[in-house]
Amino acid sequence: MKAMVYYRHGSPDVLKCEEIEKPTPADDEVLIRVRAASVNPLDWRLMRGGPRIIRVLLTLLTPKIKRPGVDVAGEVEAVGKNVTQFKPGDAVFGVCKGAFAEYACTPESKLVIKPAGLTFEQAASIPVAALTALQGLRDKGQMKPGHEVLINGAAGGVGTFAVQIAKWFGADVTGVCSTRNGEMVQSIGADRVIDYTREDFTQNGQRYDLILDCVGNHPASACRRALSRNGICVMAGGPKQVRTMLVRVLQALVLSPFVSQKFVMFIAKLSKEDLSMVGELIATGKVTPVIDRRYSLSEVPQAVGYLEQGHAGGKVVITFGAESQDVAQPHSRCSVA
Ligand SMILES: NC(=O)c1ccc[n+]([C@@H]2O[C@H](COP(=O)([O-])OP(=O)(O)OC[C@H]3O[C@@H](n4cnc5c(N)ncnc54)[C@H](OP(=O)(O)O)[C@@H]3O)[C@@H](O)[C@H]2O)c1
Repeated sequence: MKAMVYYRHGSPDVLKCEEIEKPTPADDEVLIRVRAASVNPLDWRLMRGGPRIIRVLLTLLTPKIKRPGVDVAGEVEAVGKNVTQFKPGDAVFGVCKGAFAEYACTPESKLVIKPAGLTFEQAASIPVAALTALQGLRDKGQMKPGHEVLINGAAGGVGTFAVQIAKWFGADVTGVCSTRNGEMVQSIGADRVIDYTREDFTQNGQRYDLILDCVGNHPASACRRALSRNGICVMAGGPKQVRTMLVRVLQALVLSPFVSQKFVMFIAKLSKEDLSMVGELIATGKVTPVIDRRYSLSEVPQAVGYLEQGHAGGKVVITFGAESQDVAQPHSRCSVA
């Protein structure tokens, strides 16, 4: 089968499309014929490897051949002998290792059935981004109807889900994005849009019950100015450089004991209930995934490179042919090295 692989860390040109052995599912695993996958910042962060020490650790502790891609949607091709929830032919979505490939194996605990009303592309856009938005707002941010919520990075993969989920919860939503993405963020339901090239949300005197920060470009002391007395800032995303990200975390940790506002760091957890819940929200038209760009398997380096620039307007999706219903592109043009 064709799959994206890389052997060393670096820029997107380390990604190679190669012919590798089709995987066989373990007893608790499902073999998926991949119809769509989506790209997350995690993919370029792992590909880059970060500072030297992290690169060395990743090289020592992870397989020599690295397989990018986490978010997956497709059809069950085969199941291991202990699998009870899925059978060949089922349409599923969830997370796996190595989603940028024609086939992928993953434990059944990481998949749910795809609602019939969703395309494979829509389903593949859900897992990491939508669970981060949902759990960041609902669980970490304790969002309530009527809350004033600000989404910093409203135009990204996480942000476009967050704006819609917050509106569905009954919050009053302000989205922060660039001029280019302002109309899109308004069109998905934001009550107000702040163009960060013209206005700094930490300086305009407005206060919010909850900030979902998907960018991490303001120190905690500045975000505090934009929070109500008992407001919560959920730090979901961070700057590109690991060192800058650590400084932001440290600033929040130092400030927290002295202020009434809360700064919460978190990493989204895989939850089948949450995956199904977002699937239903989409199937019933309450949330619509925003798909910015589509790429074929052979174009994964371009897709990852585009996302790494940090200005996607929604999700970037990898498609595997006409089966994904709304795909304009032909089958993968993956050439084998
Ligand atoms: N904690 C977790 O579990 C978790 C899970 C997933 C992702 N993340 C992190 O969350 C962050 C966002 O992920 P994502 O998937 O949404 O990334 P993404 O799709 O690459 O989106 C990045 C967005 O940031 C916006 N942006 C860039 N500079 C900005 C600024 N100064 N002010 C406001 N918006 C700005 C861009 O919009 P414009 O084009 O309008 O600038 C773009 O839409 C990343 O750091 C990622 O690593 C964390």
